[in-house]
Amino acid sequence: MALFSFSPADYVDEFNKNGYVHIKNGVNLENLAYIQAKTKELTADQNDLKEWEFKGKKQQYLFDFPAEWNFPEAIFQPLASVASMPYETFTMCERHIKVYDKSAKPSVPPHKDRVAAELTVGIPLFMPEGSESHLVLWPNDALDVNPLNTTALWRSSLDEQDLPENRLADIEPVRVYTEPGDVIMFRGSSIYHEREYPADTALLYLKFNAMRLDPLNEDPSTSLQEDLSLKNLSEKTDNELLDCAVEVSPKLYRISRHYTRLHWKEVIQAYVTDEKEFNVSELELRIFKEAENKRSVREIIARLGIPGPEAINYVPTFRRLGALKGLHFI
Ligand SMILES: [Fe+2]
Repeated sequence: MALFSFSPADYVDEFNKNGYVHIKNGVNLENLAYIQAKTKELTADQNDLKEWEFKGKKQQYLFDFPAEWNFPEAIFQPLASVASMPYETFTMCERHIKVYDKSAKPSVPPHKDRVAAELTVGIPLFMPEGSESHLVLWPNDALDVNPLNTTALWRSSLDEQDLPENRLADIEPVRVYTEPGDVIMFRGSSIYHEREYPADTALLYLKFNAMRLDPLNEDPSTSLQEDLSLKNLSEKTDNELLDCAVEVSPKLYRISRHYTRLHWKEVIQAYVTDEKEFNVSELELRIFKEAENKRSVREIIARLGIPGPEAINYVPTFRRLGALKGLHFI
């Protein structure tokens, strides 16, 4: 059975207008029961991490979609439609079950999700009897997108007066009271939000973007594409690679230009999840910037202004970026 029971067209206008939408009973009960049962299993035996990968943060677990739910199409399509995001580049970047502690504080300062969470989706799973647990949102204020890779980096980048508890102090939030089986969708990287009175509640959080960005390596397609890329690199000749399409790895989450204390000599470094950072030349930086829309190696070289007959000389540079898993040959 499909996870979602709603018609996306019914919610497009509301999401576009408000930046969030609350879809009551948007999840099929049978699927909800499955996720609830899985959540109980993992909380009953928190040391048994064979089935559920522990993701560093306490009581946060990776959720695997059963094959019969027709993942990813049946999950991605309705959500991309409601948010008017292109399905072709729609990428999942988180799929966590989060179980809030008994001792979770009733209120903490609101936050923005990481840059990859253009769209955040919450599906409440459990809520204690009489719980006041609800989502607070500021959908009309301080909407600049968090361009950084974590919530914490965004907060530490702000001056005192720009911290959300100061900037939003006099603005009443929207309060959304959700029940198990509802779906709440909002622009997570731009809208300040938080869950109040979350003690003992559990939710499935799914996060998405249309940027092909997967910094936690949680979209199952990311690893498959990386494997395909390494296979292409080992099997194809330089000439064949010229006509191969490439994409920046969804796991490449940052390129930094450092000014070192060696007389401010510049160093450019690329960061790929679970890999060692590596140095990047100015030419390689331009390659990453041009690797859009599944362009071929040959097209990218042409866009760099290099004459066609010389293109073959640049294939080793592309091979290097592929071997370092910063560029995918697809
Ligand atoms: Fe969040």
